[in-house]
Amino acid sequence: MSELKNKIEKLKQEKDAVILAHYYVKDEVQEIADYIGDSYYLAKVAKEVPQKVICFCGVSFMGESAKLLSPDKIVLMPEPAADCPMAHMVEIDKIQKVREEYDDVAVVCYINSTAEIKQHADVCVTSANAMKIVKALPNHNIFFIPDEHLGRYIASQVPEKHFIFNDGFCHVHKSITVENVKKAKEAKPDAEVLVHPECTMEVLAMADYIGSTSGIIEYASKSKEKEFIICTEMGVFYELNQKNPDKKFYSVGHRQFCPNMKMITLEKVCHVLEHFDHCVELKESLYETANKPLERMLELA
Ligand code: 13P
Ligand code: SF4
Repeated sequence: MSELKNKIEKLKQEKDAVILAHYYVKDEVQEIADYIGDSYYLAKVAKEVPQKVICFCGVSFMGESAKLLSPDKIVLMPEPAADCPMAHMVEIDKIQKVREEYDDVAVVCYINSTAEIKQHADVCVTSANAMKIVKALPNHNIFFIPDEHLGRYIASQVPEKHFIFNDGFCHVHKSITVENVKKAKEAKPDAEVLVHPECTMEVLAMADYIGSTSGIIEYASKSKEKEFIICTEMGVFYELNQKNPDKKFYSVGHRQFCPNMKMITLEKVCHVLEHFDHCVELKESLYETANKPLERMLELA
């Protein structure tokens, strides 16, 4: 293993590459990353890093966003098949219909979406900045795509606006049930419940804190409490434990597992850095059309 890590380190220097990783990838991949974070943080880092090459340890929409924000860089994906199913869960026709039906509407697109979908949006958001951005928009009507659950949560926090929802979802977060949380709470009654807003409203109602992956990590790290029930993908346990060796973190069952994020391995990172065979390539027009809502997100956040 350390031989592989050394090889990755050497390749990084040789190729002027930087490794970005989402909190949901395997522990050993997070361990070798130069930057680990949530979707918002990683999008900002992708735009700002000085290196010529970004090796993105995450799913396709993350690599695409990095490429859109940094078109002159080479963006490598260790596993090009690692895709987020939710990123495809909205029909373009539906967006057009909503635009025709409502005058004063903003199409607000979760960053967990393909570049093809993003080009039909007015602004992108992540779970860390959605509330701030939706509040700042001048429009009264908000069509939130593709995730219904994050959309419903933001709607509950911004009651002065009218929301139209789409029916996209994250299978990992949707599979966390009220029963799962109740059981975990019965076993650990003193633990606080920390929930990602991709979960259902019923699960969100049981939360002591609701936030993005980095929000959850920051909350637990600053809290005086010692025990937490974590309702998001299990990859966050790595950073939670690293930062808080004196605290205890509990899962809510075996389904907190994103198979796509877990497809990224050290072997694949090493391979792509050596061979440059999985580079993000986008249709030329997307650099203009799909980049706009992402840039607007960075401005408004
Ligand atoms: P954040 O890390 O932005 O909270 O997103 C969670 C997620 O599902 C990414 O795929
Ligand atoms: Fe997509 Fe859910 Fe996996 Fe995130 S955890 S990449 S939203 S399937």
